[in-house]
Amino acid sequence: MTKRTELRLARRLDEVGFSDIVQIRNKVLELRASGQAVHAFHGGEPWFDTPEPIKYAMLKALVENKTRYAPSSGIEPLRAAVAKKLREKNQIEASPEDVIITAGGAHALHVAFQCVLNPGDDVLIFSPFWTPIRDMVTGAEARALLVPTATARRTGLTATLEQFSTPNTRAIYYNTPQNPAGTVFSRAEAEEVAAFAKKRNLIVIADEAYEDLVYEGEHVSIASLPGMFDRTISTFTFSKSYAMTGWRIGYAVAREPFMTGLRKLVLYSINGVSTPTQWAALDALATPQSGIDARREEYRTKRDLLVAGLRECGLECDPPEGAFYAFPDVTKINKDSRKVAAMLLEKAHVATVPGVVFGAQGEGHVRFGYSMSTDAINAGLAALKSYFKSAPGRR
Ligand SMILES: Cc1ncc(COP(=O)(O)O)c(C=O)c1O
Repeated sequence: MTKRTELRLARRLDEVGFSDIVQIRNKVLELRASGQAVHAFHGGEPWFDTPEPIKYAMLKALVENKTRYAPSSGIEPLRAAVAKKLREKNQIEASPEDVIITAGGAHALHVAFQCVLNPGDDVLIFSPFWTPIRDMVTGAEARALLVPTATARRTGLTATLEQFSTPNTRAIYYNTPQNPAGTVFSRAEAEEVAAFAKKRNLIVIADEAYEDLVYEGEHVSIASLPGMFDRTISTFTFSKSYAMTGWRIGYAVAREPFMTGLRKLVLYSINGVSTPTQWAALDALATPQSGIDARREEYRTKRDLLVAGLRECGLECDPPEGAFYAFPDVTKINKDSRKVAAMLLEKAHVATVPGVVFGAQGEGHVRFGYSMSTDAINAGLAALKSYFKSAPGRR
């Protein structure tokens, strides 16, 4: 019999971490199970339920027995509707053959990195960044090069990208609007990144999960810029715009040679997203833009409420330009964001995410998600204010 000690996990997973955010979620569940009310600012999903028409579209698909294997890259009507949306809304000149349906944005990103990275490659990542990205890059046996976003925006994107690049740099992860800091790169910034990618012959992995949540400025899909579609894999999700986080559906758009790789990876990882889910997503795409705009305005109200409340607590907080997170500076409380998050949870029962989990450049901040009901935001702010009042030395 093989000895237990000889069993070994694949080496490429050795350095891959497991989300800190999941650990925070578990701690909150534990507190709640013990009867403790927790103000849940740590989350990252829409506060509203999946709209009824989308749910009925899934039911209809089930009743019509649209329950069999579909093409692994996605059903034709959905790929056609996605391509149309990409042409009209994102100005990406996509045809249905350029689109592949994935199990959410996370899966699209995973297959994108797997498709382009070789062991020893480097990937430029604006930091702070969405935590799974580094693990996805590490899982592809590549290395994440963290580029400080604030410095880059202050001193120039090209010079900063230049400074952090290596001869092994093969790709840039480009997320706008950004999680966790809510940064929205401007058109001029997108053009700078595009020019840099072209000059260095880099591939861009674009993450547009929050494309519908831009409060200041415009959302620019980097693949829409001249000459960029050929070198970009753009990833999108139904999770945030349509409150479909648990449905697990998103898509990637790319040209050859990448589409061949994406098709292989989707085939052998999931063999396609569940068929009824795809029919529901087709219905989601029919949502009028006015409905999406109205939601964004609701988010804007929540953002302003939270930012004003955090400032009343004495925290410095720029209003985020996009997504649904605020990222205040908490160094007045403590320089160690893990300590601040632990203290806020313990003393004020306010759950947040320590900024350091989003990269060293996130240290000194904590992330508050504001995708919550107005009542829940107000209740959380009241708890914070009374905590700060009772601990004046912390201000
Ligand atoms: C920046 C960013 N990209 C992609 C995703 C992927 O979301 P999903 O896998 O639910 O589509 C998320 C989810 O939180 C995100 O914050």
